[in-house]
Amino acid sequence: MSARPSPSRRTVLRGVVAVPAAGLGLAACAPSGGGPASTLTAPADIGAASEVAKGGAKLYREHNVVVSRDENGTLKAYSTVCTHAQCAINKLEGTTLICPCHGSRFDAVTGEVVQAPATEPLAELSVKAADGRIVAGPAA
Ligand code: FES
Repeated sequence: MSARPSPSRRTVLRGVVAVPAAGLGLAACAPSGGGPASTLTAPADIGAASEVAKGGAKLYREHNVVVSRDENGTLKAYSTVCTHAQCAINKLEGTTLICPCHGSRFDAVTGEVVQAPATEPLAELSVKAADGRIVAGPAA
């Protein structure tokens, strides 16, 4: 037996490597339906309450969460895992979230879609201010 694998064996090995790579590609572009969620599985301190101004919003990329505050001071939080194909939204312009994968846009104040291809709003999370900190977590 030679030290080099035969062509047929190499072909088999290439196929084994190629299949998982193709599977990952499909998963990244799969349609929604799996219940996208933030990385928060329990309430967590995500930042100082002073970081979110009235009428503004702040994106917490490390948690996949956006928090907004209306003119009355009420906080809202949404998962920033895109409802189209579950990409992590990484851009906030004013109060508009922009998904890097296919360009969907969401209102960070309401979670609603403002530009397709996404059709479902962002998942709302629980949020409160406590001792000057923002605590967000899974929906109650
Ligand atoms: S994953 Fe397709 S637009 Fe966000």
